[in-house]
Amino acid sequence: MTMNKEGRPTRPEVAAAGPAPTFTGNRALMLEEPLLFEIGDGETTGVDFDPASPAGDDRLGGLRRNRPIGLAGLSEPQTVRHYTRLSRQNYAIDLGLFPLGSCTMKHNPRLCERMARLPGFADIHPMQPVDTVQGALELIVELGRWLVTLTGMHSVAMSPKAGAHGELCGLLAIRAALEARGDARQVVLVPESAHGTNPATAAFVRYRVESIPANARGRVDLEALRSRLGPDVAAVMITNPNTCGLFEPDMVAISDLVHAAGGLVYCDGANFNAIVGRVRPGDLGIDAMHINLHKTFSTPHGGGGPGAGPVVFSEALTPFAPLPFVERQGDHYALVEEENAGEHHGSSFGRMVAFHGQMGMFSRALAYILSHGADGLRQVSGDAVLNANYVLRRLEDVLDAPFGASGPCMHEALFSDKGFAEGLSTLDLAKGLIDEGYHPMTMYFPLVVHGAMLVEPTETESKAALDEFIGALRSVVERAKAGDESLKAAPFHAPRRRLDETQAARKPVLVWKESPAAEAAE
Ligand SMILES: Cc1ncc(COP(=O)(O)O)c(C=O)c1O
Repeated sequence: MTMNKEGRPTRPEVAAAGPAPTFTGNRALMLEEPLLFEIGDGETTGVDFDPASPAGDDRLGGLRRNRPIGLAGLSEPQTVRHYTRLSRQNYAIDLGLFPLGSCTMKHNPRLCERMARLPGFADIHPMQPVDTVQGALELIVELGRWLVTLTGMHSVAMSPKAGAHGELCGLLAIRAALEARGDARQVVLVPESAHGTNPATAAFVRYRVESIPANARGRVDLEALRSRLGPDVAAVMITNPNTCGLFEPDMVAISDLVHAAGGLVYCDGANFNAIVGRVRPGDLGIDAMHINLHKTFSTPHGGGGPGAGPVVFSEALTPFAPLPFVERQGDHYALVEEENAGEHHGSSFGRMVAFHGQMGMFSRALAYILSHGADGLRQVSGDAVLNANYVLRRLEDVLDAPFGASGPCMHEALFSDKGFAEGLSTLDLAKGLIDEGYHPMTMYFPLVVHGAMLVEPTETESKAALDEFIGALRSVVERAKAGDESLKAAPFHAPRRRLDETQAARKPVLVWKESPAAEAAE
């Protein structure tokens, strides 16, 4: 951040755009905020504790701090303002519709938040004796029971920490099952429209990844799959509904083909929110599937992932599921670990995480499920699909919908950049949408569509909210088609203008240095 001569932060990009810079760098409610290190100092503190111990006290065995540790100290009001100002520079689902496709940003009911904050759930520690957390373990078992019932599968591993972690869990179980029968298959087939985590996971487990093309209707090309299957194929990883927002109607045929060739079927269940209450993946021949709790059961997104990606397993894969897991034993809930697993669980591929699961997400997800009930969940998926189709049909006269002609979509609507004026791109459109007060939709994904825009409105938006969003998007699309060059400089009204995204990805500055001299000294 640059400072003016009074030592206040300035906004150089605002100055460059025309208006005279202000004394503070602020513009009305667009407030600048320096880093904590720039506003704090080593002398200030927000708490009133007495000094830890008198000089000479050696209770720390010589480990007493003897120089400042370089952390910024702030008073409580400074701290509150710092974080409140930062939070106002962010877009959030609590501010408006968040159309990110594939990421499912939907309202987190406050009832679920309240449940998660009950001290009995929020304040427990993973090292507590099992006898003192019986209620929490019961909650995990009850949530698992719902997940197994809704998916029609046989068992569930609750410990994976995210969707991608769930993929890893599923593939490790598949590998263990194949190894148990002495079958060293080496290839995992992944449709070309798959989420990037699918091939990454397969490669991480040391499988060779091969791509299966999509057909003209955006679905897996069944003939291409049939001709590639063979004794070297360990598994197929397939997303259903897929990342084009389309249901794979040949799923049973796909599973049968894979099983007949001796392989196993992994389903990326991230999009379960489109079919919950209507389709049970267990009926489609799936062997393992992860569920992103944040997408289907409305736990908040954060920190790069939902923090819980339970995996449901078929009967055949259940013995290979990870430890630990929670089991009801009589009137007691027990954590089954390696040492008490017994022969029954002797084939488990092992442990993935230090502790069992993510209580904050589990309590929210179960509260969501119980507050909706089975009928309510069925309506959730119906409304999600209805909203996406409304967006699709209301925009297809101005935007190209590559698979629009092949029927309704599922929970997300996919568009391409066809028809944009020369020189204007999906990125420019997305930046223009920021000036309309919306977070952009997912861009350039899936890769099978040129300049892709994937819009997932979710079931929690009203028709009025959808109409407003559609109106804003239409207006930016019309500018992109008319060749409005000003879009190339958008956004104009955000706390920051265009960032150098390549530099941000290639040379991220993640550490604050007091001064160039301090940096040089390190
Ligand atoms: C289709 C699909 N698969 C996998 C993932 C990975 O999930 P996570 O971000 O929880 O690791 C996502 C994320 O949204 C997804 O949309």
